[in-house]
Amino acid sequence: MKPQKQVYFIKGCQIILDEPLRNFANYLGDGKNVIITDENVLRFYGNLLSGYPIITIGSGEREKTLNTAKKIYQEFLKLGLDRSSFVIGVGGGIVCDITGFAASTFMRGIRFGFVPTTLLAQADASIGGKNGVNLNGFKNIVGTFTQPEFVFMDLEVLKTLPKRERINGMSEIVKYSLIGSFPMFDFIEKNWRDLLLLKRETVRKIIIDSIRIKSRIVEIDEKEGGERRKLNFGHTFGHAIEKLYRIPHGKSVSIGMVLASRISVARGMLSENDASRIETLLHNLGLPTRIPKYVSKLMEVVKNDKKRKGDSIHFVLLEEIGKSKITEISYKELEEYINDLC
Ligand SMILES: NC(=O)c1ccc[n+]([C@@H]2O[C@H](COP(=O)([O-])OP(=O)(O)OC[C@H]3O[C@@H](n4cnc5c(N)ncnc54)[C@H](O)[C@@H]3O)[C@@H](O)[C@H]2O)c1
Repeated sequence: MKPQKQVYFIKGCQIILDEPLRNFANYLGDGKNVIITDENVLRFYGNLLSGYPIITIGSGEREKTLNTAKKIYQEFLKLGLDRSSFVIGVGGGIVCDITGFAASTFMRGIRFGFVPTTLLAQADASIGGKNGVNLNGFKNIVGTFTQPEFVFMDLEVLKTLPKRERINGMSEIVKYSLIGSFPMFDFIEKNWRDLLLLKRETVRKIIIDSIRIKSRIVEIDEKEGGERRKLNFGHTFGHAIEKLYRIPHGKSVSIGMVLASRISVARGMLSENDASRIETLLHNLGLPTRIPKYVSKLMEVVKNDKKRKGDSIHFVLLEEIGKSKITEISYKELEEYINDLC
C-alpha cells in the first residue's frame, strides 16, 4: 500500500513525510532556485535533481565551516541569487546545517528548504531551525536560528545509507525517547532489529515520534533559553568526545548519553536498572557505550564548551527513561563524577 503523506508544522515550517524525492521541483520558488548537496548524495540521486544549478560540497564534518559557506556565497553571487531566490539542501545533517546557515545569512536571509537524506537528518538535524558551522574545533559555534520553509522526507533514500550511517543515526533517536517518551523507548527496545534493518513502518514510526518530541520542545523554546536545552542530552560529553577522538557525531553522543545516565544514577535520580537498559539498547543498536580514558582531557574540552556559564554548566540528566531535567552543575562536581566513573 502506498504510504499516506503526513504533514506537521513547527514554527511555520512545513514537514512532509513520504514525499518522493523526484517531486522536489513542486516545492521550489518562482525565482531562481539552487540545490546544495554533497558528493555522495549527488552520486546516488543526481539524476532526480537535474534541471537546476547544483552546488556540491565534500562530505564529512570538516566541510561544515565558514570556508565552505564562503564558497557557497560566491556561487550564489555567480548565479545571481536575490531575495526572491530559493535554496534547497538535499543531504545529511552536514548539508542541512551548511545550507541553512548560508541561506539564512546571504543577503541577510533568503528562502530555503531541506530534503534530509540520512536517518539522523530526517529524525533530527533538518528539524527545528538551528543552522550552524564549526570554527576552530568548536562545534556549531557560529550559526542562526532560522526555520526552513519546508522539510520533506523520502524514506526510500535511506536504503542507500551505509550501515555505519544507519547506526550513527540511531543515537539521536534513542535520545528523543530518553528525554521525552518512555513508550518510544519501549518500542525501540522491542523493535531494534527491525530498526537496524530499516523496516519501513518501524523507521517511519520512530521518525514521527522524534519529530513530535522535537516539535513539542521547539514550539515552547525555539532559541534554547530553557526547555530546548534538553535536546543537548548526551551532547556535552558527546561533542567533547567527537572533538578529541574524531568519532562520528551519533557515536560520540551515544557515549555522552551513557555518561549522562551514569551521572543521573550517581545523583540519585535515575535507577541503576534504567541506566543498564539504556546501555543495553545502545549496544544492541551497534553504538559504542564504553567510557573513554583520559578524562582530564575530556573535562578540558567540556570547560571550553560554548554553553559555558561561569563555573557551572547546564547539564541534562534523567529522572527516569522518558523524563529529563535541566540542572546546573559545577565543573568541579562534574569532574568528580567523571573521575569516579572512568
Ligand atoms: N541542526 C541541528 O539541529 C542538528 C541536530 C543534530 C545533528 N546535527 C548535525 O548533523 C551532522 C551529522 O549529520 P549526518 O549524520 O546526517 O552526517 P552527514 O551529513 O555527514 O551524512 C553522513 C554520510 O552519509 C552520506 N549520505 C547522505 N545521504 C545519503 C543517502 N541517502 N545514501 C547514501 N549516502 C548518503 C553523506 O554523503 C555522508 O557521507 C553533524 O554535523 C551534527 O552536528 C545538526
